[in-house]
Amino acid sequence: MKALVLSGGSGSRMRPFSHTSAKQMIPVANKPVLFYALESIAGADIKEVAIVVGDAAAEIRHAIGDGSQFGLAVDYIHQERPLGLAHAVAVARDWLGDEDFLMYLGDNFLEDGIRAPVERFREQRPSAQVLLTRVPDPSSYGIAYVDDATGRITRLAEKPAHPASDMAVVGVYCFSPEIHQAVRRLTPSARGELEITDAIQLLIDDGATVRSETISSFWRDVGTVTGALEVNRAVLDRIASRFDGHIDHASDVSGPVIVEAGARVASSTVIGPAIIGQGSHVVDSVVGPYASIADKCDISSSIIDTSIVLSGTIIADVTRIAGSFIGRDVTLVSAGMSRAHRLVLGDHSWADLPA
Ligand code: G1P
Repeated sequence: MKALVLSGGSGSRMRPFSHTSAKQMIPVANKPVLFYALESIAGADIKEVAIVVGDAAAEIRHAIGDGSQFGLAVDYIHQERPLGLAHAVAVARDWLGDEDFLMYLGDNFLEDGIRAPVERFREQRPSAQVLLTRVPDPSSYGIAYVDDATGRITRLAEKPAHPASDMAVVGVYCFSPEIHQAVRRLTPSARGELEITDAIQLLIDDGATVRSETISSFWRDVGTVTGALEVNRAVLDRIASRFDGHIDHASDVSGPVIVEAGARVASSTVIGPAIIGQGSHVVDSVVGPYASIADKCDISSSIIDTSIVLSGTIIADVTRIAGSFIGRDVTLVSAGMSRAHRLVLGDHSWADLPA
């Protein structure tokens, strides 16, 4: 069985970060979300992986290389334009050959990995297998209608305006080569894409076996800032303390905390779970819970929790930052006695300021 990892999308809901980085490369607990996907694939005993890449090809290749760091053999397939998930399957047709394959959307995060559902697909060999989970906002996802009596999917709909089901399709699918005939028959959807949900619907209409499994463990699509912060919480909830950097005697560290090599914590309180990246300095501050501070950041006389801060960022004299996602090399300082907020925000940025 091979795996196809999709990382070609434009990430419009992850702006402004997706202007400068692939959304799949957004770090969660200081590690790109795509890395968790590759670890899950390796955990399901799949070795041959192709990553479908678009504009962010260079960044993804640079970080993942030949995949050996994950115990995988990784190839790259270029998708000229993000024309849909089924389009990505069509682009990868030759690489996939006539083998069964796993399709994993690179912005999806499953806390429990995928080993068990992949094993059941291998045992039962249906034409396709989808994972479903209940969501509070079904119109944001592919939705499945399931027959209560048989447990079978009767119909799939991509982001319906008025969903009559709250069962979302998770971005991890298993396919037999039958999916290729269905993909060939597709026409573009209302949003101009070749939808994988439509291809699976064709299999259902043809009477093929489409197996579904409902998962109740934590799953998110890191397509939005809120999604990224939720995944950050879930990952940090599982970390174990590790102190490779320096924490001075005037500091107080509680709960699970990782302080990476070269990081320095002085006269500060760190409330776990939290992670402080390589070479970052935290001085006279309160960090955490649920804070992921990347490498080479400088945090002084500030309070920050429930947030992701990317590398090289300076935060000084700011109380309090919460529920925030702050990019690379950002400077965030107090305006002192001034009552005005002085902001230099990139395109598609947003800020919630106190009244
Ligand atoms: C895609 C699929 C959708 C699925 C979702 C899961 O949507 O089209 O069916 O529920 O991934 O992450 P996207 O968010 O990429 O538009």
